Amino acid sequence: MTLARVRSIALEGLRGEIVDIEVDISDGLPGYVLLGLPDTALQESKERVRSALQNSGAVWPNKRVTVSLSPAWLQKSGSGFDLPIAVALLVAQGIVPEESADRIIIMGELSLDGSVRPVRGVLPSLISASQQGFSEAIVPLGNWVESSSVLALKTIPVSHLREVIGFLVDGEVPDVQMPDIETRGVTHPDLSEVVGQSGAKFALELTAIGGHHLLLIGPPGTGKTMLAERLPTILPPLSNERALEVAAIHSVAGLFNPMTLRDRTPPFLAPHHSTTPTAMVGGGSQAIKPGACSIAHGGVLFIDEAPECASGVLDSLRQPLESGSVSISRVRGTVSYPANFLLVLAANPCPCGRFNGRGRACTCSSIQIRRYMQKLSGPLLDRIDIRSFVEVPSRAEMASTEVGESSEEVRKRVLIAREIAQERFKFENWSLNSKIPANQLRYKYRATREGMTFLHAELDHERLSARGFHKVLRLAWSVADRNGVQIPGLSEVETAYRLREGVSIQ
Ligand SMILES: Nc1ncnc2c1ncn2[C@@H]1O[C@H](COP(=O)(O)OP(=O)(O)O)[C@@H](O)[C@H]1O
Ligand SMILES: [Mg+2]
Ligand SMILES: [Zn+2]
Repeated sequence: MTLARVRSIALEGLRGEIVDIEVDISDGLPGYVLLGLPDTALQESKERVRSALQNSGAVWPNKRVTVSLSPAWLQKSGSGFDLPIAVALLVAQGIVPEESADRIIIMGELSLDGSVRPVRGVLPSLISASQQGFSEAIVPLGNWVESSSVLALKTIPVSHLREVIGFLVDGEVPDVQMPDIETRGVTHPDLSEVVGQSGAKFALELTAIGGHHLLLIGPPGTGKTMLAERLPTILPPLSNERALEVAAIHSVAGLFNPMTLRDRTPPFLAPHHSTTPTAMVGGGSQAIKPGACSIAHGGVLFIDEAPECASGVLDSLRQPLESGSVSISRVRGTVSYPANFLLVLAANPCPCGRFNGRGRACTCSSIQIRRYMQKLSGPLLDRIDIRSFVEVPSRAEMASTEVGESSEEVRKRVLIAREIAQERFKFENWSLNSKIPANQLRYKYRATREGMTFLHAELDHERLSARGFHKVLRLAWSVADRNGVQIPGLSEVETAYRLREGVSIQ
């Protein structure tokens, strides 16, 4: 047997394509040819595979070796093809029986000494493999916990090429114990730890209820970061399906954490304001990796000191905010990742941070303040429904021993409010108040007559833009759902109006 075929997987975004790895060993000048759009890491597989085979008691054929990965149009990247290439070489040499490797997915990177190292993207790869009818996979031991979340698949964890040979030749399954995943150790911060800030907490709750994006403005050290970090603890836990999707994205990013599948608290990600647009939305020259906004999928993306962001970084969020996903084009087609997150931005009220409306300690000129805030203006602010001013907690608040509401109590209200909204929208193609289309707000999802009259008067006085009008209405629905009011009236509309326009951004 000089021609052999083994199966592995290449990812396009979260979608896995089965890749056939064919090896042909023929007489002729010794050499190694790799066909089928390999990237640099894959080009370098030869040395790893050769050395690993030799260190596993097998031989490298001193002949002409052609390795072909198909389908040919699919870009294959990374080192995860080392192991299947090595196995294909063993099949071609008659060491591993052809039929034992035929219906099994093989993934793994090889070290020179033959040990098998973990690779990225195992979870989405195996989900795809299982959907395409495969029922068995050989995976690096370091990816075993991850791969075992694909219940329909039997996985064989390996730590050395020798074990792979032992399994495929003699059916010996490596004797290893699944590591115990400790669930008790996980603790989350709690909203009760934030002192005072009732206004900002209310804004946070509405954010969670309606899926509204939020801007927190306030001097440093007032708890903006604390508040944002606690948003995931009042959001509904991730559904089964969503948790698997989030874990799959994290797997591709090399951040897989089994707790995502157990704990179900939505992810929280806080990229620094010095981050690049590529790190924010994803990209890369070889394999396209998910960016911060995909890693935050299903949860919260928090950007502290947002006006300090490099140019282009905030703008790069427009596409995901609009579509809930990120598409990155490259020479061969487009890769896309889900990116549906709640955006929380934090900003100081002015460059020096001490502006408090009365201008006491602040040394910034009004032009400086305007310039600073203008960095947030435009299309991005259009997507943010709530602006909340976070003030310095008073001395009395800081000294108080009264414990505020816990995350769990607030989460209960959020869940009830979301159920109300879901019931109302059961025949619509959205389920969150922040997603009500503008035209529907003017007809089907209006406030009461008093509420609408108030908003129209504000429009007439040019105190409210058309866009602001829609946002206040969406937010008013969230206030109504929180308070168990069936249709937002004057009170809900006014509350929403204050949250929307309460802070004057000059
Ligand atoms: N409202 C608050 N309640 C309790 N602690 C606070 C509060 N505001 C600030 N702190 C304390 O100050 C630290 C900094 O808060 P942080 O949330 O980072 O502020 P900001 O993001 O507004 O600059 C926190 O770690 C906490 O110890
Ligand atoms: Mg902060
Ligand atoms: Zn200032």
